[in-house]
Amino acid sequence: MQVLNNINLVAQEGKMISIMGVSGSGKSTLLHILGLLDEPDSGDVYLFADKVNFTDKKKLAKIRNNYIGFVFQFYSLINELTVLENVLLPMMINGIINQDYAKELLLRVGINQELFNKRSYNLSGGEKQRVAVARALVNKPKLIIADEPTSNIDENNAMLLMSLLRDLQQSFNTTVIISTHSKKIAKFCDITYFLSEGVLIDEDNN
Ligand SMILES: Nc1ncnc2c1ncn2[C@@H]1O[C@H](COP(=O)(O)OP(=O)(O)OP(=O)(O)O)[C@@H](O)[C@H]1O
Ligand SMILES: [Mg+2]
Repeated sequence: MQVLNNINLVAQEGKMISIMGVSGSGKSTLLHILGLLDEPDSGDVYLFADKVNFTDKKKLAKIRNNYIGFVFQFYSLINELTVLENVLLPMMINGIINQDYAKELLLRVGINQELFNKRSYNLSGGEKQRVAVARALVNKPKLIIADEPTSNIDENNAMLLMSLLRDLQQSFNTTVIISTHSKKIAKFCDITYFLSEGVLIDEDNN
């Protein structure tokens, strides 16, 4: 079955882009390709004007860790690690650890200090989702890809999270691509696309 068809998406640096579409329309599939986690059956992906070579897995992993922060739809935290350790992990892989920044990000997504040393399997779904966002941001990625990052959290925390993404975008010119079922979240972004029958349709947000 072909999920995506003739997709042509250019994500401009420093823009917040949302992708909407019914369940099963291919949002996660598209984001996994944009995040260099899956290789498309045909077509190419360019990152900073360079064509991505999907065969060199080591290099791909390095690019992902350095430049891309990915928030998975189902969080993918490491259960046995604490909240703080989960967020520090991408820093450890890079060899540059800044605990204060990790803690600051956790606080900014609304995770209180009491939770920092709790094992992540003890958290609620929404707490896990917010920790996953902090983890995705910790290496100051140029590109943030978030698959339904607010699907399990209350409106206040969802808006807190979106403001954090907006702040990062403004401070570091970060590009943000998120999928969402929420019109409110989509409105918060600069550009919204709808994915339907494998095709991307753009709608001006203004
Ligand atoms: N690993 C896979 N192998 C084969 N088909 C898959 C795989 N993952 C997803 N699909 C199929 O691809 C289509 C698109 O799925 P995808 O997960 O991208 O949708 P989605 O828009 O993210 O949906 P949701 O809003 O429910 O998260 C669906 O028909 C799904 O069944
Ligand atoms: Mg999905």
